[in-house]
Amino acid sequence: MRLLLLGATGRTGKHILDLGLARGHRLTAFVRSPQKIARRDGALTVVQGDPLQVEQLARALDGHDAVLSALGPPAREAFRPSTLLAECAASTVAAMTTAGVERIAVVSAALLFPVKGLRFALFRRLLTHHLRDLVAMETVVRASGCNFTIARPPRLVDAHDEGYRSEAEALPAGAAVMSFRAVAAFLLDCVEQRTHAREVVGLARRRSP
Ligand SMILES: NC(=O)c1ccc[n+]([C@@H]2O[C@H](COP(=O)([O-])OP(=O)(O)OC[C@H]3O[C@@H](n4cnc5c(N)ncnc54)[C@H](OP(=O)(O)O)[C@@H]3O)[C@@H](O)[C@H]2O)c1
Repeated sequence: MRLLLLGATGRTGKHILDLGLARGHRLTAFVRSPQKIARRDGALTVVQGDPLQVEQLARALDGHDAVLSALGPPAREAFRPSTLLAECAASTVAAMTTAGVERIAVVSAALLFPVKGLRFALFRRLLTHHLRDLVAMETVVRASGCNFTIARPPRLVDAHDEGYRSEAEALPAGAAVMSFRAVAAFLLDCVEQRTHAREVVGLARRRSP
Protein backbone atom coordinates (compact mmCIF):
# COMPACT_ATOMS: atom_id res chain seq x y z
CA MET A 1 0.00 0.00 0.00
CA ARG A 2 1.04 3.64 -0.36
CA LEU A 3 0.77 5.27 3.03
CA LEU A 4 1.30 8.88 4.08
CA LEU A 5 2.62 9.24 7.60
CA LEU A 6 2.21 12.30 9.84
CA GLY A 7 4.43 12.45 12.93
CA ALA A 8 7.09 10.20 11.38
CA THR A 9 9.84 11.75 13.53
CA GLY A 10 8.01 11.03 16.79
CA ARG A 11 8.25 8.04 19.11
CA THR A 12 5.20 6.28 17.66
CA GLY A 13 5.84 7.53 14.14
CA LYS A 14 9.35 6.04 14.01
CA HIS A 15 7.91 2.60 14.64
CA ILE A 16 5.20 3.06 12.01
CA LEU A 17 7.96 3.98 9.56
CA ASP A 18 10.08 0.99 10.52
CA LEU A 19 7.26 -1.58 10.59
CA GLY A 20 5.57 -0.16 7.49
CA LEU A 21 8.75 -0.55 5.43
CA ALA A 22 9.35 -4.02 6.91
CA ARG A 23 5.86 -5.00 5.78
CA GLY A 24 6.56 -3.90 2.21
CA HIS A 25 4.58 -0.66 2.06
CA ARG A 26 5.64 2.48 0.20
CA LEU A 27 5.72 5.27 2.75
CA THR A 28 5.66 9.03 2.45
CA ALA A 29 6.84 10.75 5.62
CA PHE A 30 5.36 14.25 5.61
CA VAL A 31 7.49 16.11 8.16
CA ARG A 32 8.55 19.61 9.08
CA SER A 33 12.19 18.56 9.71
CA PRO A 34 13.39 16.06 7.08
CA GLN A 35 16.91 16.06 8.56
CA LYS A 36 15.49 14.14 11.53
CA ILE A 37 14.93 11.10 9.31
CA ALA A 38 18.21 9.29 8.81
CA ARG A 39 16.67 6.20 7.26
CA ARG A 40 17.31 5.69 3.54
CA ASP A 41 15.07 3.24 1.68
CA GLY A 42 13.80 3.04 -1.89
CA ALA A 43 10.26 2.65 -0.54
CA LEU A 44 10.50 5.78 1.63
CA THR A 45 9.88 9.33 0.38
CA VAL A 46 10.43 12.19 2.77
CA VAL A 47 8.42 15.33 2.00
CA GLN A 48 8.99 18.55 3.89
CA GLY A 49 5.78 20.36 4.72
CA ASP A 50 3.42 21.84 7.27
CA PRO A 51 0.49 19.60 8.26
CA LEU A 52 -1.64 22.73 8.69
CA GLN A 53 -1.36 23.54 4.98
CA VAL A 54 -4.11 21.75 3.07
CA GLU A 55 -2.59 22.32 -0.38
CA GLN A 56 0.81 20.93 0.61
CA LEU A 57 -0.81 17.88 2.16
CA ALA A 58 -3.15 17.28 -0.77
CA ARG A 59 -0.20 17.41 -3.20
CA ALA A 60 1.76 14.91 -1.12
CA LEU A 61 -1.30 12.65 -0.76
CA ASP A 62 -1.87 12.14 -4.46
CA GLY A 63 -1.97 8.41 -5.25
CA HIS A 64 -1.91 7.20 -1.63
CA ASP A 65 -4.21 4.60 -0.08
CA ALA A 66 -4.32 5.88 3.50
CA VAL A 67 -3.05 8.36 6.07
CA LEU A 68 -1.53 7.26 9.37
CA SER A 69 -1.20 10.02 11.95
CA ALA A 70 0.88 9.97 15.14
CA LEU A 71 1.17 13.71 15.63
CA GLY A 72 1.58 14.98 19.17
CA PRO A 73 2.57 18.24 20.81
CA PRO A 74 6.16 18.74 22.00
CA ALA A 75 6.35 17.72 25.71
CA ARG A 76 6.36 21.27 27.08
CA GLU A 77 3.35 22.20 24.93
CA ALA A 78 1.22 19.33 26.25
CA PHE A 79 0.57 21.33 29.43
CA ARG A 80 -0.60 24.47 27.65
CA PRO A 81 -3.74 25.26 25.66
CA SER A 82 -3.29 24.09 22.08
CA THR A 83 -5.39 23.46 19.01
CA LEU A 84 -2.57 21.86 17.01
CA LEU A 85 -4.05 18.38 16.72
CA ALA A 86 -7.57 19.57 15.92
CA GLU A 87 -6.26 21.97 13.28
CA CYS A 88 -4.01 19.32 11.76
CA ALA A 89 -6.97 16.93 11.66
CA ALA A 90 -9.07 19.55 9.86
CA SER A 91 -6.37 20.20 7.26
CA THR A 92 -5.74 16.47 6.84
CA VAL A 93 -9.35 15.50 6.19
CA ALA A 94 -9.73 18.47 3.82
CA ALA A 95 -6.60 17.36 1.93
CA MET A 96 -7.86 13.76 1.85
CA THR A 97 -11.11 14.94 0.24
CA THR A 98 -9.16 16.91 -2.37
CA ALA A 99 -6.84 13.98 -3.10
CA GLY A 100 -9.59 11.34 -3.03
CA VAL A 101 -8.04 9.40 -0.13
CA GLU A 102 -10.63 7.88 2.22
CA ARG A 103 -8.77 5.91 4.90
CA ILE A 104 -7.16 7.40 8.00
CA ALA A 105 -5.89 5.80 11.20
CA VAL A 106 -4.93 8.20 13.96
CA VAL A 107 -3.52 8.01 17.48
CA SER A 108 -5.51 9.50 20.37
CA ALA A 109 -5.36 8.49 24.05
CA ALA A 110 -7.00 6.06 26.49
CA LEU A 111 -7.52 8.89 28.99
CA LEU A 112 -10.56 9.90 26.92
CA PHE A 113 -12.40 6.76 28.05
CA PRO A 114 -14.50 7.40 31.17
CA VAL A 115 -12.36 5.03 33.24
CA LYS A 116 -12.43 5.64 37.00
CA GLY A 117 -9.42 5.53 39.34
CA LEU A 118 -6.90 7.82 40.95
CA ARG A 119 -4.18 7.31 38.33
CA PHE A 120 -6.53 8.18 35.46
CA ALA A 121 -7.90 11.19 37.36
CA LEU A 122 -4.39 12.51 38.04
CA PHE A 123 -3.22 12.20 34.45
CA ARG A 124 -6.47 13.72 33.19
CA ARG A 125 -5.87 16.73 35.41
CA LEU A 126 -2.22 17.06 34.38
CA LEU A 127 -3.00 16.75 30.68
CA THR A 128 -6.23 18.77 30.60
CA HIS A 129 -5.15 20.96 27.69
CA HIS A 130 -3.76 18.14 25.59
CA LEU A 131 -6.88 16.04 26.16
CA ARG A 132 -9.09 18.94 25.13
CA ASP A 133 -7.18 19.10 21.84
CA LEU A 134 -7.50 15.33 21.40
CA VAL A 135 -11.28 15.52 21.92
CA ALA A 136 -11.48 18.27 19.30
CA MET A 137 -9.26 16.25 16.96
CA GLU A 138 -11.49 13.19 17.34
CA THR A 139 -14.59 15.32 16.72
CA VAL A 140 -13.13 16.62 13.45
CA VAL A 141 -12.17 13.12 12.30
CA ARG A 142 -15.52 11.57 13.26
CA ALA A 143 -17.48 14.35 11.53
CA SER A 144 -15.51 13.93 8.32
CA GLY A 145 -16.64 11.62 5.58
CA CYS A 146 -13.39 9.67 6.01
CA ASN A 147 -13.18 6.01 6.83
CA PHE A 148 -11.40 6.46 10.15
CA THR A 149 -9.96 4.42 12.98
CA ILE A 150 -9.13 6.31 16.16
CA ALA A 151 -6.71 4.38 18.38
CA ARG A 152 -6.73 5.16 22.10
CA PRO A 153 -3.65 3.59 23.73
CA PRO A 154 -2.67 3.87 27.41
CA ARG A 155 0.76 5.23 28.47
CA LEU A 156 3.39 4.27 25.92
CA VAL A 157 6.86 2.87 26.55
CA ASP A 158 9.84 1.98 24.41
CA ALA A 159 9.84 -1.78 24.05
CA HIS A 160 10.09 -4.11 21.10
CA ASP A 161 6.89 -6.13 21.57
CA GLU A 162 4.26 -5.66 18.86
CA GLY A 163 1.38 -7.57 20.44
CA TYR A 164 -1.74 -5.73 21.52
CA ARG A 165 -5.32 -6.29 22.63
CA SER A 166 -8.02 -4.09 21.14
CA GLU A 167 -11.62 -3.37 21.97
CA ALA A 168 -14.10 -1.17 20.11
CA GLU A 169 -15.31 1.83 22.13
CA ALA A 170 -13.70 0.64 25.40
CA LEU A 171 -10.36 0.21 27.11
CA PRO A 172 -9.38 -3.48 27.35
CA ALA A 173 -9.25 -4.74 30.94
CA GLY A 174 -6.01 -4.11 32.76
CA ALA A 175 -4.62 -1.63 30.22
CA ALA A 176 -1.79 0.31 31.87
CA VAL A 177 1.09 0.61 29.43
CA MET A 178 1.98 -0.70 25.99
CA SER A 179 4.76 -0.14 23.49
CA PHE A 180 4.93 2.57 20.84
CA ARG A 181 5.69 -0.27 18.43
CA ALA A 182 2.47 -2.14 19.23
CA VAL A 183 0.45 1.00 18.47
CA ALA A 184 2.27 1.19 15.14
CA ALA A 185 1.40 -2.46 14.47
CA PHE A 186 -2.25 -1.80 15.29
CA LEU A 187 -2.53 1.18 12.92
CA LEU A 188 -0.90 -0.78 10.09
CA ASP A 189 -3.09 -3.84 10.74
CA CYS A 190 -6.22 -1.66 10.52
CA VAL A 191 -5.42 -0.22 7.12
CA GLU A 192 -4.03 -3.48 5.73
CA GLN A 193 -6.93 -5.63 6.91
CA ARG A 194 -9.63 -2.94 6.55
CA THR A 195 -10.70 -3.50 10.15
CA HIS A 196 -12.14 -1.10 12.75
CA ALA A 197 -13.71 1.15 10.11
CA ARG A 198 -15.32 4.23 11.68
CA GLU A 199 -14.46 3.03 15.18
CA VAL A 200 -12.74 4.37 18.28
CA VAL A 201 -10.60 1.53 19.61
CA GLY A 202 -9.08 1.05 23.05
CA LEU A 203 -5.68 -0.65 23.11
CA ALA A 204 -3.63 -2.57 25.66
CA ARG A 205 -0.45 -4.64 25.71
CA ARG A 206 -1.01 -8.30 24.89
CA ARG A 207 -0.79 -10.49 27.98
CA SER A 208 2.04 -12.99 27.96
CA PRO A 209 0.82 -16.58 27.58
N1 LIG B 1 3.53 9.06 24.65
C1 LIG B 1 2.54 8.46 25.32
O1 LIG B 1 2.74 7.87 26.41
C2 LIG B 1 1.14 8.49 24.75
C3 LIG B 1 0.13 7.76 25.39
C4 LIG B 1 -1.16 7.76 24.84
C5 LIG B 1 -1.42 8.49 23.69
N2 LIG B 1 -0.41 9.20 23.09
C6 LIG B 1 -0.71 9.98 21.89
O2 LIG B 1 0.07 9.56 20.81
C7 LIG B 1 0.38 10.67 19.97
C8 LIG B 1 1.84 10.54 19.56
O3 LIG B 1 2.62 10.50 20.73
P1 LIG B 1 4.21 10.36 20.67
O4 LIG B 1 4.66 10.24 22.08
O5 LIG B 1 4.61 9.34 19.65
O6 LIG B 1 4.58 11.81 20.11
P2 LIG B 1 6.02 12.49 19.96
O7 LIG B 1 7.12 11.51 20.14
O8 LIG B 1 6.03 13.72 20.80
O9 LIG B 1 6.00 12.93 18.41
C9 LIG B 1 5.15 13.94 17.97
C10 LIG B 1 5.25 14.10 16.47
O10 LIG B 1 4.43 15.20 16.08
C11 LIG B 1 5.21 16.11 15.31
N3 LIG B 1 4.80 17.50 15.53
C12 LIG B 1 4.58 18.13 16.71
N4 LIG B 1 4.23 19.41 16.51
C13 LIG B 1 4.21 19.58 15.16
C14 LIG B 1 3.92 20.69 14.31
N5 LIG B 1 3.55 21.89 14.81
N6 LIG B 1 4.00 20.52 12.97
C15 LIG B 1 4.38 19.32 12.46
N7 LIG B 1 4.66 18.22 13.19
C16 LIG B 1 4.58 18.36 14.53
C17 LIG B 1 6.63 15.92 15.79
O11 LIG B 1 7.50 16.42 14.79
P3 LIG B 1 8.95 17.07 15.19
O12 LIG B 1 9.87 15.89 15.37
O13 LIG B 1 9.25 17.89 13.98
O14 LIG B 1 8.74 17.85 16.44
C18 LIG B 1 6.67 14.41 15.97
O15 LIG B 1 6.89 13.77 14.73
C19 LIG B 1 0.08 11.93 20.79
O16 LIG B 1 -0.96 12.65 20.19
C20 LIG B 1 -0.36 11.43 22.14
O17 LIG B 1 -1.52 12.05 22.62
C21 LIG B 1 0.86 9.20 23.58
